[in-house]
Amino acid sequence: MQRGHWGSRLGFILAATGSAVGLGNVWKFPYTVGNNGGGAFLIVYLAIVLTIGVSVMLAEFSIGRAAERSPVGAFSKLKGGYWPAAGFLGVIASFAILSFYSVVGGWTIAYIFKSASGLFATADAETLGGLFGGFISSTAEPLVYHAVFMALTMGVVLGGVHKGIERTCTVLLPMLFIILVILAIRSVTLPGAMEGLAFYLVPDFSKINADVVGNALGQAFFSLSLGMGALITYGSYLSHKENLSRAAIWVTLADMSVAVISGLVILPAVFAFGFDPTEGPGLVFITLPAVFGQMPAGVVFAVLFFMLLTIAALTSSVSLLEVVIAYLIDERKMRRAPAAIGAGTLIFIVGIACSLSMGVWSDFTIAGMNIFDFMDYSSSNVMLPVGGIAISLFVGWVILPRATQEATSQGTQPFVWVKGWQFICRYVAPIAIAWILISGI
Ligand code: PHE
Repeated sequence: MQRGHWGSRLGFILAATGSAVGLGNVWKFPYTVGNNGGGAFLIVYLAIVLTIGVSVMLAEFSIGRAAERSPVGAFSKLKGGYWPAAGFLGVIASFAILSFYSVVGGWTIAYIFKSASGLFATADAETLGGLFGGFISSTAEPLVYHAVFMALTMGVVLGGVHKGIERTCTVLLPMLFIILVILAIRSVTLPGAMEGLAFYLVPDFSKINADVVGNALGQAFFSLSLGMGALITYGSYLSHKENLSRAAIWVTLADMSVAVISGLVILPAVFAFGFDPTEGPGLVFITLPAVFGQMPAGVVFAVLFFMLLTIAALTSSVSLLEVVIAYLIDERKMRRAPAAIGAGTLIFIVGIACSLSMGVWSDFTIAGMNIFDFMDYSSSNVMLPVGGIAISLFVGWVILPRATQEATSQGTQPFVWVKGWQFICRYVAPIAIAWILISGI
C-alpha cells in the first residue's frame, strides 16, 4: 500500500509544530513553572530544550525519514535486535499520554461553552476555583466532553495524513499565537502583575533540586513531542528534499515561544488576582477566566481562545494517536479505519479512569498519585526520557553515518552544528538524561 505523504514542505513543518504546540505549552507549562519555583525552572527548561531537545528532535526526524516506517518498524528495519522495544515503549507512552490528554482536551471544549454562557463573570479566586473543581470532579459531564474530544481526534486521523492533519495547522496555529500575545499584553499590564513577572523571570537558584530538573526534562520532552516516536512517524511521511535541521530548529523555537508566552499570560495574572501558582492542573482554567473578565469583549476573546486551544490540542492528540495507528498499519497490516477506531476506543476507556480519578475515584492511588497524575508522571517523566535515551544512542552509535546523511541534507549543513549535534546524540543526551532520571529516584 502507498504510504501517506505530506503535501508540501511547509506542510510538514506545520504539522510537526502542530504536534508540539498543544496543551503542553498552554495548560501544563504554566502550572509546572508554578509548582517548581518559577524563574529557575524556566532557565533549566530552556537549557534542556535548546540542547537535548532540538537534537533529539532532529534524531527522530532522521530515523523516520531514513526508514519510512512507523517507530517500531523503523528500529527493526534500520537495525533490529532489541531496538524495536524502543518503538513499543513509544506506543505505550502514546496510549498513556492520550488517555489523560483527551480528558483535558474535553475540559477545553467545555470551557468554550461555559465561557460563552457568561458563567465566569468574576475574578474571585474561590468562585472560579470552585467552578473548575466542581466540573472536573463530577462524573458524567467531563466524560461527555472527553468522548467528544476523542471522537474529533479519531475523525482527523481517519482523514489520512495529508488532508487531515496538515490543513488543520496552516491557519489556526498562527491565530492561536496572536491571541496569546494579546492576552500576554493584557496580563502583564494588570495592576499587581510585577510580582508574577518577577516570580517567572527572576531565577532563584536555591529552588533547583533533582525534582525540578527532572520535571524540566519531562516538560521539555512532553512539550516538544519527543521520546515516543511521534516525530519519527511524522518524519517517515516526509520527502527527501526537506531540510531536516531547519525543520527541527523551527519547530523547537516555535514550541518554546508559545510556552514562554503562555507563562507570561498566566503567571502575572495569578499574582495580580491573588491566586495560588501551585494550584496544579487547574491553574490555567481558573486564572484565564479572570483575565478575560478584565478585557473589553472578554467573552468573545474567551470563546475564541478556548476554540483555538481545542484545535491546538487536537493537532497534538492526532500525532499521539497516529503513533499507534502507524504501528497497526505498518506492522500489523491493519487498515486505517479499524486501526483508528479500535485504538481510539481503547484509549478513551483508559481516559475514563483518568477523568474519574479527579472525582469519585480520587482515593485510588498508584505510587501516591491518582490515576490521572500517574499517567502523566509515568509517561512524561519516565517513558519519554527513556525513549529519548534510546533514540539518541541509536542515532549516535548505531546508525550515525546514515542519520547524519539525513540530518544534514547529504552534508550541506554547517560543520559546527553537525558536530555539535552528533556530540549531543552520542554523549550529552544519553548521559544527562540518565543522570537526571537516576537522581530523581
Ligand atoms: N507536545 C504536545 C503538547 O505540548 C503533547 C504531545 C506529547 C504530543 C508527545 C505528541 C507526543 O501538547
